[in-house]
Amino acid sequence: MNIHIDTFLTPFFPEPESLFDNSIVVMIDVLRASSTVAMALSNGAKEVIPADSLEKAVKIFGSLSREVRFLGGERNAVMPSGFDAGNSPFEYTSNNVAGKSVILTTTNGARIFLKARNVKYKIICGFVNIGLVSNFIISKLANVDEKLNKVQILCAGNDGNLSYEDSLCAGMLIDNILNSDNDYILSDSSFAAHNLYEANSGDLQTMLKVREHASKLSKLGFEKDIDYCLSINSCPVLPIMDNSSIKKIDFPKL
Ligand code: MLT
Repeated sequence: MNIHIDTFLTPFFPEPESLFDNSIVVMIDVLRASSTVAMALSNGAKEVIPADSLEKAVKIFGSLSREVRFLGGERNAVMPSGFDAGNSPFEYTSNNVAGKSVILTTTNGARIFLKARNVKYKIICGFVNIGLVSNFIISKLANVDEKLNKVQILCAGNDGNLSYEDSLCAGMLIDNILNSDNDYILSDSSFAAHNLYEANSGDLQTMLKVREHASKLSKLGFEKDIDYCLSINSCPVLPIMDNSSIKKIDFPKL
């Protein structure tokens, strides 16, 4: 069967109703929302609820009981006042989040996570869990009963623009998927992301550390976050978004 792989390198694109039919959707925000979601779930958070505004985040937080809620996120990469945590993955320790609903509002990532509401498989991906995400996608495509014939990759980008780290993560994911036994048709943007990945696969980290978003985070003292977010397969969890929240699902490890 022919499987189409399409990639949206920025978050603004026309979304006709049929766009996501028969699709597996993958959402990428390497720095740092995807990586934070993976860390929170791996440390036992019950779920992560993305919110696309501070007001909505605070409202959801207010509707939950004190013992089971945790409010995190950023604006301009910094924790909003009154929040429990910013968007640094290392703030999502098991002490802080185990058994809790984490409400997460971030500038770019949380917004992309709220797209494609009616899709069965919406997966949150970063470098930290890319191997497991790739294996999951390949296994779903192999199951003909699922009738999936498209993989749609949505990159959060950076303030509406393309971001290098999300594009390269998309390229690496495409590379992994292409190694499986199917006939694939790449859209131009998927082809571009894949070429970009191939051209830089020798040393992704060095290149990405000096690009826009990492440079900004580095100036703010978040070097440890950057190292973690760019480390491949360091947090092998599979976060799947349902109607309103992201939960970890069990899937064989790498
Ligand atoms: C975002 O979702 O915009 C990012 O995760 C921002 C950040 O690095 O904190």
